[in-house]
Amino acid sequence: MAIGYWNDMLAIKPDHLVALLEKGALVLKRGETDEAIRCFEAAAIVSPDNPLALNNLAVALVQASRHHEALDHFRRLAGLQPENIMLQHQVRRQTSRVVPFWHIPMLNDVHRNAAFEEAIKKVVAARGTSVQILDIGAGSGLLSMMAARAGATNIVTCEAVPVIAEIAKRIVAQNGFSDRIAVVDKISTDLVIGRDMGARADILVSEILSSDLLAEDVLNTFEDAHARLTNEGATIIPRAATAVGCLVESNVLNQYAFVEEVSGFDVSEFTQLAANRLPVHGTMTEWKRLSPDVDLQKIDLTQSKYAEEMRIVEIPVISDGIATGIVQWIKIDLAEGVEFVNHPDNYSDGGWLQILHPFPRPIQVESGTALQIIAGHDRSSLILMPLSSARN
Ligand SMILES: C[S@@+](CC[C@H](N)C(=O)[O-])C[C@H]1O[C@@H](n2cnc3c(N)ncnc32)[C@H](O)[C@@H]1O
Repeated sequence: MAIGYWNDMLAIKPDHLVALLEKGALVLKRGETDEAIRCFEAAAIVSPDNPLALNNLAVALVQASRHHEALDHFRRLAGLQPENIMLQHQVRRQTSRVVPFWHIPMLNDVHRNAAFEEAIKKVVAARGTSVQILDIGAGSGLLSMMAARAGATNIVTCEAVPVIAEIAKRIVAQNGFSDRIAVVDKISTDLVIGRDMGARADILVSEILSSDLLAEDVLNTFEDAHARLTNEGATIIPRAATAVGCLVESNVLNQYAFVEEVSGFDVSEFTQLAANRLPVHGTMTEWKRLSPDVDLQKIDLTQSKYAEEMRIVEIPVISDGIATGIVQWIKIDLAEGVEFVNHPDNYSDGGWLQILHPFPRPIQVESGTALQIIAGHDRSSLILMPLSSARN
């Protein structure tokens, strides 16, 4: 039946369930996602446990890229129909869209966890157990529970992803820390002192560092935290993080970064479209080092402002070769004497991978010389570019 028929019906009875569902399905087919969502939401109000209304609403929300809300509806529906395999699949599929895969390997990274716990224990001992602690980015609540285990009694942790915040609350309760840790399901920039936490924090702990330092919006988050959420002189964990790297030659990585002749055709122009960063597993990929380790970009997380920056860094070449690019990892300064590094020579499993920053084209380098690169950041990503290609 045509949409006009259902519109006429809804003009007479705006909460007509069949009309809402039929109109929603028709407009969704026409790509009018917002109108479809309005129809299915209205249908779900008329009939809250109606499987068709909930399922169609979730499908329309997926089409509108509103994945968190879609997941909520799929989860509710799966609760109503626990035997429905398709719903179980949709719940897992949507969960994967909103919860990055690296959470589990990160949680299983015993070296990372031990370094954070050592720093947290040190700082709680120095600042006292009753000071206000803020943990930005709860995840499972691990770092807050470490603070509680160190004796801290006044911990607030916030989490931007609703489904993760919900699980963190359950984990904190299961471990018996609900009286000391409040999990707030908000992004840190929405936290309000006096409502979400009693006072500004004396200790800020946060692990929102990506494999290339900046992709998890760490600089905006810390700027906001320094301005609104921490006391003057608050102790920050980690204090700093540095992108470290070395020049590499690798036939394997060349296959990911450059293309030349394929099936007898010259397709080398396509190299212009190559990714500027490729996550790699340092210990699993064949590559040869052409330089020593070089600090490429340090971020001092105790600062209250972070401007974009760029400068020339000289990379000493220690071996002749054709450089594919720079393999980069991170070094985290957590507290006095506590450091964590995911060095590619000896870090195989964890939440962080190493990142290959391929050059625009392979560069021939000679031992005893230095390759000049431009290194810096634009606040949300690292900039690593050979000076020669920047000038071309
Ligand atoms: C790398 S995980 C770390 C989780 C946990 N702190 C740990 O170390 O095991 C970062 C978490 O912070 C959350 N997150 C990132 N930025 C945030 C922010 N500004 N406010 C609240 N949560 C944030 C992400 O959704 C993610 O769950």
